[in-house]
Amino acid sequence: PIPVIIDCDTGVDDALALLFAVRHPGLDLRAVTCVAGNTDVDGVVRNTLTVLEHAGAPDIPVARGAERPLVEPPRSARHVHGEDGMGDLGLPAPTRTAADVDAVTLLRREILASPRPVTLIPTAPLTNIALLLRTHPEVTRNIERIVFMGGAVACGNATPVAEFNVWHDPEAAAVLLTAGVPLTMYGLDVFQQVVVSGPEIERLRASDEPGTRLAGELLAHRPGSPDGDGEDWAGGVGDAGAVCAVVDPEGITTRLLPVEVSLAPGPTRGQTIVDRRPRPGEAEIHGEGRAPDLVDVALDVDVERYVKLYLETVTAG
Ligand code: BDR
Ligand code: CA
Repeated sequence: PIPVIIDCDTGVDDALALLFAVRHPGLDLRAVTCVAGNTDVDGVVRNTLTVLEHAGAPDIPVARGAERPLVEPPRSARHVHGEDGMGDLGLPAPTRTAADVDAVTLLRREILASPRPVTLIPTAPLTNIALLLRTHPEVTRNIERIVFMGGAVACGNATPVAEFNVWHDPEAAAVLLTAGVPLTMYGLDVFQQVVVSGPEIERLRASDEPGTRLAGELLAHRPGSPDGDGEDWAGGVGDAGAVCAVVDPEGITTRLLPVEVSLAPGPTRGQTIVDRRPRPGEAEIHGEGRAPDLVDVALDVDVERYVKLYLETVTAG
């Protein structure tokens, strides 16, 4: 199996990603690290432990990470993910506890201890990852790739142009984008496409198996799922799509493109600028263009393929 570590802000769809990762036989989930994002970091730790326990996952180490972005104060997304940050499903508090080391220490330890290079899957603001890369740059020698949910080629969600994870900590995203590690950007353009149909979600909700039922409850709480009956409502797997992209990279269409992030105050802050031009423009001709690092950017996704992969995996618990 592929050794992976998820860095998350659980989060309704981060929970969907964790369920998938612990149940896919092709993945070896070695640790989960938590960061402030959808809710405060203590809430993220609690939600993460709850999901892992509920899914009957092995005792995977979970660590608490940054409680705020590098520069700005934290800004939660509770209006999307509920008061508890995970859909207010009323799940029992976890009996498991977090590791007694912080996220950056756990990341370093697990990456360097892995017999094979690790794939990191951040599905949250990139604060922990930036701190790791700056504090312990030696980890890059045992990182296979970082497949991150963040950014957008076209349209944002936190602002008209910025996606939440990058907008929440743009400086951290800039550290990631210039780290020289192979990167895959699973941005909003593909994130928003992978949705499970209402009747399928109802089937999951009706299951006797706790992890499958939890996947159903979470999908029913995804933003944009109209609460109601009928064939035409749907719930997105969200962050779980980034984990699908590790298991099944053929399911996304990617292109290696220059990507940078806007750190300027004002309306572009947190925007990922993806250069899709076929040839250099005037700025480069006049010697003014920079040459940002290249990122494998997901431009399209085979929706049916990922929905099938997701459902088959989470119902196999
Ligand atoms: C991202 O922001 C969070 O709300 C979701 O969990 C996802 O990681 C989407 O912009
Ligand atoms: Ca997330």
